[in-house]
Amino acid sequence: MSLKLDNLIPEHIRLFDPYRPSPPDSVLMRLNGLDHLHRLNNNENTLGPSPAVRELLDGIEAGIVPIYPHGDSQDLREALSSVLGPDRSRFLVGNGSCELISSVVKAFCEPGDNIVTADKTFAVYEWVAEFSGIEPRLIPLDRDFRFDPDGMLAAVDDRTKLIFVCNPNNPTGTYWDEATMRRFLDAVDGRCIVVADEAYFEYVEQPDYPDCIRLLDEYPNLVVFRTFSKMYALAALRVGYLCAGEEVTDIISRAHVAYSVNTPAQMAARAAVLDRSQFIPETLAMVRRGRELIREACDSLGFEHVIGEGNYAMIRTPISDTLLQRKLLRRGFLVRTMTGFRFPDWIRVSLVREPVLEEFCAVLKELFR
Ligand SMILES: Cc1ncc(COP(=O)(O)O)c(C=O)c1O
Repeated sequence: MSLKLDNLIPEHIRLFDPYRPSPPDSVLMRLNGLDHLHRLNNNENTLGPSPAVRELLDGIEAGIVPIYPHGDSQDLREALSSVLGPDRSRFLVGNGSCELISSVVKAFCEPGDNIVTADKTFAVYEWVAEFSGIEPRLIPLDRDFRFDPDGMLAAVDDRTKLIFVCNPNNPTGTYWDEATMRRFLDAVDGRCIVVADEAYFEYVEQPDYPDCIRLLDEYPNLVVFRTFSKMYALAALRVGYLCAGEEVTDIISRAHVAYSVNTPAQMAARAAVLDRSQFIPETLAMVRRGRELIREACDSLGFEHVIGEGNYAMIRTPISDTLLQRKLLRRGFLVRTMTGFRFPDWIRVSLVREPVLEEFCAVLKELFR
């Protein structure tokens, strides 16, 4: 029997170049003769999870495993509602916020539609659009590496369904202040859905940074995404959420797979959101110190750097980013190459514990002095 795949595959799937995740740490360590590997590539918070969440995870019984999770993460949504304010019906929980990106595209877009976002941002908006047969319109960042509100507005037409604003932006750490966000939302004037992806919300300490959940009642076309993968250090459990008006949340939930968030993930995320310990302030202090260390190392080497909000920093490298990635890997550090983010010959480094970053900076200096 011959399989006529060509007749079955839509053009946009045939043309799509899929993301290839890096091999498991154990493989990288074996290939590079390492006895440890510092992961600076995914903006993980290696300080966590918080002691309360650790305790909860340690106590999870295998007996819960035969039972399906809550299909709609009700207890977690209740906790989010009690801490953040909006009614629990306005939250939707996903298998990471990546799943929610997919759900929002499925809910609103059909062939011929487009989405608008930036060219140098979290690539999943663009990828989901592409493999769904939807046109991604990618607007260049401005000279200061910020999302360009006027450029994005100019790209909106009557087939634009979604605008993704990564705030703060991954990888540049730039953000729109509340006035810019409001001006943009006023100009969009409800013509399409605006997603504010606040994956790094908990890391931003600037007073003019907007908490978009507080803007939801004024802008019914606004959808806010957040995740437990970054500050809360639950990346392995895959849990993120969105908050929007009740009607918009209901529409997105129709295109969202129920039961996609497992029970330990729901339990841990609930404990994390209710946790009132010093875990977040301690992480913020670690990240502040990380920014100083990277800035100091780059300045002493004469390397351009972009360090904004979020737990990451970008460094311009004098050699190809893939070559530097390989050299650093041999020394036990995994960093993110930035060519895929359209920043050729830059790397992105997660801001982790001080001793690890000190060692990283020492290796960088050794490689380039
Ligand atoms: C801006 C941004 N949004 C969303 C995500 C995805 O997060 P999650 O782990 O919740 O899928 C990431 C992860 O790197 C991110 O940087």
